[in-house]
Amino acid sequence: MLKTLAQRYFADLETQMRAVVALAPAAPEFDVLLKYPLGWVDQGGHPYDHPTGKRIRPLVLLLCCEAAGGNWRDALPAAAAVELLHNFTLLHDDIQDDSPLRHGRPTVWKIWGRANAINAGDALFTLSYCALHQLEQTTPTATVLAIWRVFNQTMLDLTRGQHLDMRFEHQPSVTVDEYISMIGGKTAALLAACAQIGALVGSDDAARSQHFADFGMNLGIAFQIHDDILGIWGDPKVTGKSAATDILAKKKSLPVLYGLERNQALNEVYRRPRFRKIDVELAITLLEESGAREYAVQLENDYYHRALQSLESAQLQGEPGHQLRSLAAWLFQRAY
Ligand code: IPE
Ligand code: IPE
Ligand code: MG
Ligand code: MG
Repeated sequence: MLKTLAQRYFADLETQMRAVVALAPAAPEFDVLLKYPLGWVDQGGHPYDHPTGKRIRPLVLLLCCEAAGGNWRDALPAAAAVELLHNFTLLHDDIQDDSPLRHGRPTVWKIWGRANAINAGDALFTLSYCALHQLEQTTPTATVLAIWRVFNQTMLDLTRGQHLDMRFEHQPSVTVDEYISMIGGKTAALLAACAQIGALVGSDDAARSQHFADFGMNLGIAFQIHDDILGIWGDPKVTGKSAATDILAKKKSLPVLYGLERNQALNEVYRRPRFRKIDVELAITLLEESGAREYAVQLENDYYHRALQSLESAQLQGEPGHQLRSLAAWLFQRAY
């Protein structure tokens, strides 16, 4: 599924992103810090050709542009912008979460230190706006301005979500509603923006673009629940991320907040001031016993179906609509 779409879009997307990253002024190693997280070079600056990011967000954006009746090439600047923005958030997220591993490689802060990683993230953030500027070449100015507004609001929602995610680490319990609001910000807001921006480039029907935004929001919530499940039960060799980080940080991921609500022994483990490796193993066993995994899969399934309903409301026709449904199904089953 991803391969077919990759063949259609990815070469042009990568060319667009590389041209934008080339706008960064030269300084020793600066380009390595920008290209390493994008999967283009290894830490020595040599070309790297193993798969890293899935490029889901630009895929959603380009497909939604086509599904709304547009030419996907017109949306390439916006597609590059959302992927650069996403990678900026990952760079900072790995510092915020103390995560040592991403895409099976040491994270930027692990190699170059936190200060350099913050700075490289800032550059990627700025480059995402440079990419968005290029939309002026393909899209009417009024639409570009509407897209800027979506982009800015998304970053505010995303940082609100990240704030809650970190705050919840210190909160003994979190409700499902609080959790959905948190992931709606940290993850789903950007997927909603991708779908909406794609639709806005594809057609200037603002009302219809809202159905696309709803699709992206529901898909993003299902996506993050899936990431939470993989964060506990996924295989680090496949996910490329360490399995214990979420639990060590006392993240209130969906399985954890469900387990804490029901399992006294799990609460006792979470109250320990120092969380050791053996506590992580015990926590995972207790989560299994409380049915937390089944619950999370069920809620993910609900949001996946809500996403499909939103697509129905957008009244999509033709191959791109079909491919959006297939992409959603693939995300629901992914192991990384
Ligand atoms: C990771 O997103 C961060 C989350 C919002 C869960 P992806 O799983 O899309 O990350 P990459 O881009 O493929 O690495
Ligand atoms: C990622 O959330 C959200 C953003 C990067 C904004 P997580 O912290 O849950 O994602 P992973 O598991 O590190 O990719
Ligand atoms: Mg993280
Ligand atoms: Mg995080």
